Amino acid sequence: RFKAVIFDLDGVITDTAHYHYLAWKRLADSVEAPFDEAFNEQLKGVDRMGSLELILARAPRTYTPEDKRALADKKNAHYQELIATMTPDDLLPGALRALEDVRAAGLKIGLASVSRNAFTVLDRLGIRDRFDDVVDAATVVNGKPDPEIFLTAAAHLGVDPQDCLGVEDAVAGVASIKDAGMFAVGVGSPEVLQRADRVIPSMAAFRLEDY
Ligand code: BG6
Ligand code: MG
Repeated sequence: RFKAVIFDLDGVITDTAHYHYLAWKRLADSVEAPFDEAFNEQLKGVDRMGSLELILARAPRTYTPEDKRALADKKNAHYQELIATMTPDDLLPGALRALEDVRAAGLKIGLASVSRNAFTVLDRLGIRDRFDDVVDAATVVNGKPDPEIFLTAAAHLGVDPQDCLGVEDAVAGVASIKDAGMFAVGVGSPEVLQRADRVIPSMAAFRLEDY
């Protein structure tokens, strides 16, 4: 039925969503902004400066553009420390099998991540060459929830959006897939990922033939 599957990276292929959480939590604590798991759901899939703005909107003081740049750099330095020791063992259960199943079924495979660290993470996991196309923050103007990143991936793969299945763990990411006119598989909880066409608890439950 589908001609391509476009995967998100952080939180779908590997648990970097947890590393982003830890790095943002430390940053939020340092500016005395309240931060918990529920608020973190709003940050998932949102690019670095966008996430920082959401955190600083809850902080007691205001920040200049220079302050913001420094804070974003600080968060990224911490995040890069956390991902520096990743290996292929850090693929989430089921992620590699999903990539293999999609390939075996003859579909194209894309990656849509707004992370500027996406290629580093793919290389640490040893899976860069498993994707026919990778679209990251450097390629698009509008991050998730805008549909641009998934539409760009589909265009690069030469597949119509309605023939694409997108896989996402973030509310913003599912919105991006749906507004691109694609079928959305959410990875996580149905209460959070309400716009997804199907929700699976983890990639271990991904079955291409079910969609
Ligand atoms: C997304 C993550 O993939 O990338 C977000 O879900 C993260 O949590 C965003 O903020 C930007 O990542 P980076 O690596 O460019 O700071
Ligand atoms: Mg994600």
